[in-house]
Amino acid sequence: MANNKIEDLRKRREKITLGGGAKRIEKQHQSGKLTARERMNLLFDEGTFVELDAFITHRCVNFGMEKVDAPGEGVVTGYGMVDGRLVYAFAQDFTVVGGSLGEMHAAKICKVLDNALKVGAPVVGLNDSGGARIQEAVDALSGYGKIFYRNTIASGVIPQISAIMGPCAGGAVYSPALTDFIYMVDKTSQMFITGPQVIKTVTGEEVSAEDLGGAMTHNSTSGVAHFVASNDEDCIAQIRRLLSFLPSNNMETAPLFDTEDDVNRLAPELDDLLPENPNKPYDMFDVISRIVDDGDYYEVQPYYAKNILTCFARINGQTVGIIANQPKVLAGCLDINASDKAGRFIRTCDAFNIPLLNIVDVPGFLPGTNQEYGGIIRHGAKMLYAYSEATVPKVTLIVRKAYGGSYLAMCSKDLGADVVLAWPQAEIAVMGPQGAANIIFKDDIAKAKDPAAERAKKVQEYTDEFATPYKAAERGFVDDVIEPSATRPRLADAFNMLASKREARPAKKHGNLPV
Ligand code: HXC
Repeated sequence: MANNKIEDLRKRREKITLGGGAKRIEKQHQSGKLTARERMNLLFDEGTFVELDAFITHRCVNFGMEKVDAPGEGVVTGYGMVDGRLVYAFAQDFTVVGGSLGEMHAAKICKVLDNALKVGAPVVGLNDSGGARIQEAVDALSGYGKIFYRNTIASGVIPQISAIMGPCAGGAVYSPALTDFIYMVDKTSQMFITGPQVIKTVTGEEVSAEDLGGAMTHNSTSGVAHFVASNDEDCIAQIRRLLSFLPSNNMETAPLFDTEDDVNRLAPELDDLLPENPNKPYDMFDVISRIVDDGDYYEVQPYYAKNILTCFARINGQTVGIIANQPKVLAGCLDINASDKAGRFIRTCDAFNIPLLNIVDVPGFLPGTNQEYGGIIRHGAKMLYAYSEATVPKVTLIVRKAYGGSYLAMCSKDLGADVVLAWPQAEIAVMGPQGAANIIFKDDIAKAKDPAAERAKKVQEYTDEFATPYKAAERGFVDDVIEPSATRPRLADAFNMLASKREARPAKKHGNLPV
């Protein structure tokens, strides 16, 4: 008798495990996608995945749904280990009613979010869905609402990572958008609020689904996504890598990694890295790779606002979040998109106790009507706000230019940088020598017999006097001017010294970030 019941349980589970059945699984594979269960098995350490709610079913009786068997309700949920650490996850199963989201599908996802929040574990959401289950009408919409609410409550408490691994349309895109990081798989995923057909009807515009909401559109144009993956396997391997840089929740610090890379390693190449001509570009990654453990970093939003770069790396085994100007792109100027990208990254790091390393080579904010009309004042303010608000250790390294408002926006001493170091080539002033000379020596230049020669002389005078780190060091805005080759040991020492930093702020409901 008992054996019959056990046999029955096995059969039931087997059926659920097959999802939408062999034919639909085959279709899923043919379209270059793994199934929900295959994805979960890749995400978790072997044999650690524990499934929840496999037996949940929908209770919709509209439009023939009463006859539709939906194994697992179109979403596989549960928890397991990633590199030995607890992680919760859900994976929508496109083989079951197109992974569409109804009341009980949403209830499964909500349970994952509730449980993860209770125990302080990250949540990974693998999205592959036709959106709101049309037959369930407002129950489906309510399901999304419940998820959005939980995403928001969990924001800043546990890391939330979304992967788009198939269609993701309508309001469904907003759950991923409320999470900390979005991955998109190239060519097999799309995100949009209204699809190509609706756009054609309403505005007459013709656009393909890929151009409208494919992985590269959201990685390079809209900035909605943070990472692109070449296929499902790559996507999940990248998520595992990202998790290794993050703590499990906002009460912990990121795991410490053993490294063979000597913390006192000097990098003599850095002494000669900057071009003689201060207006010549170079690649900021050449600096970063020589400073961090094993030259290893993981870039966030590598295709968006490339004039600023954001990445995770480790120094002395501890995760740091790096924000750096990229002189190779727009001379490293700050603009609207760069401010949004950096502001968001700074706040993500601060929420999860990840110290900040700011590497500065910034000539200023990008001038132009596009920028002013687009609200650079409001967007640039996000960086000022995010840096001022952040209480994690903040270390600023000024390698070359640090002019005007952009000097402040890259976390100057006055925005709360705990340690500011500068290379001897640093130029810290209100503006560059050329612009400054034109203004303050305007009369001298105009009166001179040879205005060009006079101008050159004044530019040189200004350069000698102000385009150095020493004026700032005289006032204590720079704590020390260091030899570039010694950057890694000096940064490691600064972060080590700051490890016990605690900073209290006045109690408030929340600040008013200029969104
Ligand atoms: C119910 C759905 C469904 C949905 C797909 N299916 N989407 N069932 N509700 N939203 C079912 C299909 O009927 C089909 O069932 C199976 O899933 C696979 O779908 P196909 O169309 O055969 O697959 P494919 O050709 O790959 O096309 C995928 C698709 C398309 C592009 C996603 O299915 C589609 O356009 N679906 C509707 C998308 C949509 O408009 N959703 C609502 C968005 S609005 P069978 O039985 O034939 O296998 C929204 C509002 C959310 O989500 C608001 C939140 C605030």
